[in-house]
Amino acid sequence: MGGQLQHPMLIKRTHDEEARQNYAMAIRSHLAGKIAPANSAVYSKVVEPAFVKKNGRKPKDRFEVRAAMTENPSYQIYSLMQRHTQELGFDSVIDSVERQLPELISAAKSVDGKVGGSLTLDPSLKIPAYHTAYDIHLQPGGYHSEFTADDVAEGAIYDRGVHIYSMGSLGPEMEMFGRSLIAYYKQLVPNANPKRILDMGCTVGHSTLAWKRAFPDAEVYAIDVAAPVLRYAHARAEGMGIAVHFSQQNAEATNFPDGFFDVVCSHIIMHETSTRAAPRIFGETRRILAAGGTMLHMDNPRLGELSPIDAFLAEWEVTNNNENFGGYYRAADLAQLGRDAGWPTDEVAFDSVPLETPPRLRNYNIRMPLFPCLTGRKGVSVVKLAAE
Ligand SMILES: C[S@@+](CC[C@H](N)C(=O)[O-])C[C@H]1O[C@@H](n2cnc3c(N)ncnc32)[C@H](O)[C@@H]1O
Repeated sequence: MGGQLQHPMLIKRTHDEEARQNYAMAIRSHLAGKIAPANSAVYSKVVEPAFVKKNGRKPKDRFEVRAAMTENPSYQIYSLMQRHTQELGFDSVIDSVERQLPELISAAKSVDGKVGGSLTLDPSLKIPAYHTAYDIHLQPGGYHSEFTADDVAEGAIYDRGVHIYSMGSLGPEMEMFGRSLIAYYKQLVPNANPKRILDMGCTVGHSTLAWKRAFPDAEVYAIDVAAPVLRYAHARAEGMGIAVHFSQQNAEATNFPDGFFDVVCSHIIMHETSTRAAPRIFGETRRILAAGGTMLHMDNPRLGELSPIDAFLAEWEVTNNNENFGGYYRAADLAQLGRDAGWPTDEVAFDSVPLETPPRLRNYNIRMPLFPCLTGRKGVSVVKLAAE
């Protein structure tokens, strides 16, 4: 398990808090390494044979696998423990955040802007229903909830909570998605020299800062609908000496002028949106891209390309972890969604981004080195990428 960079906004932990957080991470690792492999064995040795005996054929898709596996006591215990560790991870962080919240808020408020970044909030922004209807991946209050003035708690909880969730596999700054997408972009557009880059759904800027590091002369912008994570992101970036312009905006309809950006990207946000929002975001991306500009919306692994049992296991997040839209998005024809949103057929394609350091796919013991990406070039044909 890799360690997390101790930047100025990251919560400090007392001895007991650190021990509890380490326990949450260790039990997740134990589940991933020692218990999760049993799911596939239980399936192939017990559940699938029983299904074949009853139906005269193997389960044809992840839905039939789910109906059979969720009846199995061994899987039930695994799933219960997995859900428990998800809740425990956040619980263990919330204690530290509550203890330090006044200092975190005052640290965020005292950012002096010397680094050159900025923060623009819009208290009138309507938070989309796909955030308010439930707590995405069980983070209490989701990304957007505010319980006190100038609240940064959800940002602080997310920053430490995701380190525990990912068992340290995303890098010391949890920058691995950003680094991987940048490497892909550099291959797609050799000698790229983008002047303006936008990261949509930046949360606390884990991926955003990697873009500014990779293209230090570019102006980097980042948006999110949630104020608490943006306040935290701004203070985190300034504390790390990296200038980013954060603003509270809905990616479905931003206030940026037409043709403003050379790159518009996102990292693992689309599966947390909705059937109506996703095409709007793809359309808005095209509007704010300059001619020749590049769209890169990278998200969690596809379900359709996996075997029925692996797809069922990978879909645990959808059915048990409030990533409700993920089941649809991760099986959808992304290039078609792009075309539906107004991208010309030859300018948009489904492609895959190799991860720099492929982690095991969460706790399911599935190696998943490729993350799907809806790729577009405004006015430039990318049909050769289409791998559907
Ligand atoms: C899983 S997090 C993304 C993580 C982040 N991109 C990274 O690489 O670390 C999803 C984020 O997308 C934001 N989000 C979801 N829908 C959005 C929308 N329509 N407009 C802007 N932000 C959105 C959420 O508020 C949340 O902060």
